Amino acid sequence: MAGRDLISALTAIVGSGHVLTDEAVTKGYRTDWTGRWEGRATAVVRPASTDEVSAVVRACAGAGVAVVPQGGNTGLVGASIPHDGEVLLSLRRLDAVDAVDPVEQTLAAGAGTTVAAAQAAAAQVGLMLGIDLAARESATLGGAVATNAGGLRVVRLGATRAQLLGIEAVLADGSVLRRWTGLVKDNVGYDLVGLLTGSEGTLGVVTRVLMRLVSRPAHVHVVLVGVASLAAATEALAGLRRCGLTIEAAEYFHSDGLELVTSRLGLRAPFGGDFPTYLLVETSGLAEADVLDALSGLGPLLGDATVEAGPGSRLWAYREGHTEAISAAAVSRGGGAPLKVDVAVPLRRLAAFEAAVRDRIGERFPDVQVVTFGHLAEGNAHVNLLGLAGASADEATDLVLRLVIDHGGSISAEHGVGRAKQPWLSLARSPVDVATMRAIKNALDPSGILSPGVLLPPVSS
Ligand code: MLT
Ligand code: ZN
Repeated sequence: MAGRDLISALTAIVGSGHVLTDEAVTKGYRTDWTGRWEGRATAVVRPASTDEVSAVVRACAGAGVAVVPQGGNTGLVGASIPHDGEVLLSLRRLDAVDAVDPVEQTLAAGAGTTVAAAQAAAAQVGLMLGIDLAARESATLGGAVATNAGGLRVVRLGATRAQLLGIEAVLADGSVLRRWTGLVKDNVGYDLVGLLTGSEGTLGVVTRVLMRLVSRPAHVHVVLVGVASLAAATEALAGLRRCGLTIEAAEYFHSDGLELVTSRLGLRAPFGGDFPTYLLVETSGLAEADVLDALSGLGPLLGDATVEAGPGSRLWAYREGHTEAISAAAVSRGGGAPLKVDVAVPLRRLAAFEAAVRDRIGERFPDVQVVTFGHLAEGNAHVNLLGLAGASADEATDLVLRLVIDHGGSISAEHGVGRAKQPWLSLARSPVDVATMRAIKNALDPSGILSPGVLLPPVSS
């Protein structure tokens, strides 16, 4: 089918208002959140139902044109934008919360439902979605599933895969796969729900999800602690855990990131003095006096601390403001979008890893600013390089990812592999592992029409 015929076929499926081809109109869909990734699309198509998604995928497969699914376009690894002429399939119109069941503790919703909308629906029945992330207002459930998003609640509840009970997805031939029992105990055959989670659009297009809901923690406190170093933050977290605090979230950032956030968001610094590193912990189940006791048990590790009764957003703002403040700072210093590298290393080695990154980047790129922050409990560092010339992105990524491997870590903690890290896949996975993933990809998408070049190398290379 020639390009024009495909556009006509797509228009017949979703209506002319939902097939976008004007470059100015499609730019927002073709460019990722950082602005670092931008591609060319044959069209942006906005279906409103699973049947329409299925028909779109079938039409594209028939025309030999690849498809890239997109949710809220908050991804940071170039997986949700087209590269070179794919059809960009926006799932945002599949945004209905169909059912919230307080007895089964489940939420059924379209893939385009935002995380914030799902959280609000869960809260209405006194329950909580187990996923939370700073991009909650735009990020969608389908995108969270496709990337196995982590976020702020992983320490107690696990990542998105642990929150997902059922899935509906359109496969590469347009057929609809549905695993939807809602049962926690359902051991019949391969874990296709788990397999599609984190497959980054390469195995199917997620159209609906059945999420597990959890009880809302009681007696929540948000604690911000100033400490002397990242190693001290790690020790402080271990100390708080030993005191029996239930940790709902454990995050960290440093003074350079805090400085960007306070100046960008116009916030006052949290303490009278500055500290090299800050640990933000959300706890539940204890009275404030017990939380204060646990903090005083940290002894000399504790530089200063402040406690906010939760659920609270005042202290969280210092942590959640990082992504936006870093991007704004990178742009204003003239280097364009920051290079963002999401990685994890064992907690004991996190401080040494960060020190090595600062040393090595400092030696090789003396004008580049390194700002790190992340999810402390999982050893998940978000490494941001500001002022790096675009041409040096691969060299700097290579440097950081090799340090990750040297420190026994993972080259993708929670953002996925996408296009950004695909060339480094073999650093982290053995040839047998990559061949197994390729075999799965070939079985489910033999023509390679779903998100080519994402996660696995394109077939031609
Ligand atoms: C976060 O933890 O805030 C997100 O993963 C976004 C980021 O890495 O900038
Ligand atoms: Zn994160």
